Amino acid sequence: MLKTHGCGTLRAEHAGQSVTLAGWVHRRRDHGQLIFIDLRDRDGLVQVVVRPNEQPDAYAAANDVRGEYVLRIVGSVVERSEATRNPNLATGDVEVIARSVEVLNEAKTPPFSVIEDDDVNELVRMQYRYIDLRRSSMLEALELRHRLNQYIRDFMTGREFLEVETPILVAATPEGARDYVVPSRLTPGAFYALPQAPQQFKQLLMVAGVERYFQIARCFRDEDLRADRQPEFVQLDLEWSFCEEEDILNLLEELFAGAAATLRPDLTVPRPFPRLSWHEAMERFGSDKPDLRYGLELSDCSDIAEASSFGVFSSAVAGGGRVRGIVMPGGASLSRREVDAFTNLAKTMGAPGLVSLQFSAEPSDATEDDVRSPVLRHVGIDDARRIGERCGAASGDLVLLAAGESGMVSTVLDGIRRELARRLDLVDDSVMQFGFVTDFPLVEWDEDGRRWDALHHPFTAPQSEDAALLDSEPGNVRARAYDAICNGFELGSGSIRIHERDLQMQVFELLGIGAAEAQQRFGHMLNAFEYGAPPHGGFAFGIDRVAMLLAGTENIREVIAFPKTMSASDPMTGAPMPIADEQLDELHLRINPPANGQLR
Ligand code: AMO
Repeated sequence: MLKTHGCGTLRAEHAGQSVTLAGWVHRRRDHGQLIFIDLRDRDGLVQVVVRPNEQPDAYAAANDVRGEYVLRIVGSVVERSEATRNPNLATGDVEVIARSVEVLNEAKTPPFSVIEDDDVNELVRMQYRYIDLRRSSMLEALELRHRLNQYIRDFMTGREFLEVETPILVAATPEGARDYVVPSRLTPGAFYALPQAPQQFKQLLMVAGVERYFQIARCFRDEDLRADRQPEFVQLDLEWSFCEEEDILNLLEELFAGAAATLRPDLTVPRPFPRLSWHEAMERFGSDKPDLRYGLELSDCSDIAEASSFGVFSSAVAGGGRVRGIVMPGGASLSRREVDAFTNLAKTMGAPGLVSLQFSAEPSDATEDDVRSPVLRHVGIDDARRIGERCGAASGDLVLLAAGESGMVSTVLDGIRRELARRLDLVDDSVMQFGFVTDFPLVEWDEDGRRWDALHHPFTAPQSEDAALLDSEPGNVRARAYDAICNGFELGSGSIRIHERDLQMQVFELLGIGAAEAQQRFGHMLNAFEYGAPPHGGFAFGIDRVAMLLAGTENIREVIAFPKTMSASDPMTGAPMPIADEQLDELHLRINPPANGQLR
């Protein structure tokens, strides 16, 4: 090794030792008679002192170094005097008096400082990721992920789950997003898909008798990207034979709580994890991944609205929709403009508008002045008061109501609820509030495609007491599916699976997948079910998302070494890139340019 010690490992107990260090110049300060170099490696920083009189050669070398040069330094560890100790630095009790300074490599001035955590454009950070990753916060994120993976492997191994790797070149999987595809050279015109998840393989491993499988699995989905979504991401994927919902949820609670306690002992993790049905989650919070760290629950006012003379309300309900509301405690004092800001936010989420009712703190008398609303004339004071009461609004509060199609109302009020929590400072960053959402519907109606879609995926088992409804009322069939959530994010989902061919065929049919297509796309699954498939179930959670929450950020890219941009590209390597004509020929492919003629 070119070094004997890590820079960040030196302590007072090393005083008197001769050490050889190697690392990067974090900072260099020239005090005329002395040069100070903060030398950085993966272990941290230490201050190196170069004195001209004692070591003229070392001094001459140190004179020329700049930030991010790579140095090798031989010197002695000495304890700093009381006055010069730096309590903010792990190595702050010591410094290294250099005997020799050797430049192992020079460095251009980096495009941004490794030192300050100032706001550097993220694209530039991604373009020079190898420099960005030198920042201590990024190195910490890499370490956190490493420890998370390690924790997961130990935990799953301890429970006798077997880590099995599954293929990356697969047939298309019905996980709900677009596939990334890979052309086959040997079978012209045919394509592999990259797995959206190892779903079918893990179920086939259950048929194979593995009983307990897990994998830290890479998944690929060509979908619209968001702050918590990447085109390639990593799942802890697991599958378990002869288990029931309860077994999986208990296992997950142990795993999440244990990982959090190990990696973030400073955070509070309330246990047991609350469980709520999908229906309850949607009713109380308008979301299947509610942030359970605060209340701000929704109230249904559809019955009051139905009989209202206010057309916006009555027509919403008459059209099959709903009217629901949320209370902002103390919101009566908001100005018209502040209330309008909520309406504008609602519009970005698909609402035509919001109805606001402000219940004044001090009604001057028992007249109509106790409620303020731009539409009070239409709603009428009696209904307004009734709505206030239904929502649990006290004097001094604001009620915001959304009217219309049920899904839209939920989306909008979920968004408003999150915004209110931020405004009211109800979000406690010291808590990781996990929870489980259960009893999801098996299918949802896709208005555009005019068909039933699997809410989870087509291999999810219906609840046995609802199975009779599969033909008559599929929309009311509950699935044996569950999600894990934390602080308003979905961490993962899973289900007990179908393991019988006939039931699987019935569900395929419901989803508009006829017998011939089912045989062609999923024949291997259907066949396997005829060779002694055990009852089984499983789960997968996003490791990137869990790492993101453990790291205390809301941007998944902060915990990924080499992430992609929102347009799924990598500014560092330039991917995706055109390929050479010869390569296209070999694959029997021809590029069909988009209508605007623009190609990369
Ligand atoms: P699902 O599709 O819900 O389930 O995915 C499970 C979890 O994977 C994470 N995830 C993502 N993370 C980052 N970027 C993405 N684009 C992305 N997409 C998904 C989420 C999500 O909750 N095979 C089933 C699981 C099962 O039934 O066992 C599946 O993949 O955290």
